[in-house]
Amino acid sequence: MRHRLFILFSLLALTLTVWACGAKKPPVKEPAIAETVTDAGADEDADAEPPAPKSLYERMGKREAIAKVVDTFMKNMMANKTVAKRFAKLKGPKLDAFKESFTDFVCKETGGDCEYKGKDMKEAHKGMKITEAEWNATVEALGAALEEHGVGKEEQADLVAALGKMREDIAPAPPAKK
Ligand code: HEM
Repeated sequence: MRHRLFILFSLLALTLTVWACGAKKPPVKEPAIAETVTDAGADEDADAEPPAPKSLYERMGKREAIAKVVDTFMKNMMANKTVAKRFAKLKGPKLDAFKESFTDFVCKETGGDCEYKGKDMKEAHKGMKITEAEWNATVEALGAALEEHGVGKEEQADLVAALGKMREDIAPAPPAKK
C-alpha cells in the first residue's frame, strides 16, 4: 500500500514539474518605442512654477544702478534754477547722507530689500509749500537722470507713476480760493 502511495505521489510531483516548466514562456519582447522629442519633459513643464515677475527694483538694475541715477538726479536738481535753492545747504557729508537716504527710499519703494530710515514723505516735506513748477522740475530732473543711465522707457514710466502717487503727500495742492 505504502509503495503504491509513494509511486502515486512521485507521479504527481513529476506531472506538476513538467507542467510548471512548460508554462514558463519566454519573455515577450516589448516593441521598441522611440521617444518623440516633443513629448519629452512635457509633464515636468506643466508642473513647473512660472517665473516670478521681476520687481521694478531688479529691472532698474538694483541698488548700485539706482544710486548712480540719484547722484545724477541731485546734480540736475542743483543745476535747476527752479529747485536749486531748496537744496542750497546740502553739501559734503550732508549731501552724501541725503543721496544715501533717497537711494534707500527708491530701492524700498520699487521692491528692493533696503531699509529706509528717513521720514515719511508727508513729514519730510511738511510746510515746504512745494509749487507745481517745482514738482514738474523735479520729475524732469529725475527723467533726465534715468535717461542718462540708460534705464528703460517702461521702467522710467513705472518709477514716475510710483512716485507720482506720493504727490499729495509731498506737494499737496493749495486749498482753492473762495
Ligand atoms: C519725486 C518726488 C520726491 C521724492 C520721492 C522725494 C523724496 C525725499 C526723501 C526720501 C527725502 C529725505 C527724507 C529723509 O531722509 O528724512 C526728501 C527730503 C527733501 N525733499 Fe523731497 N522728494 C520728492 C520731491 C521733492 C520736491 C518736488 C522738492 C522741492 C523742490 C523736494 C525737496 C526736499 C527737501 C528740501 C528735502 C530735505 C532735504 C534736507 O535734508 O535738507 N522733494 N525728499
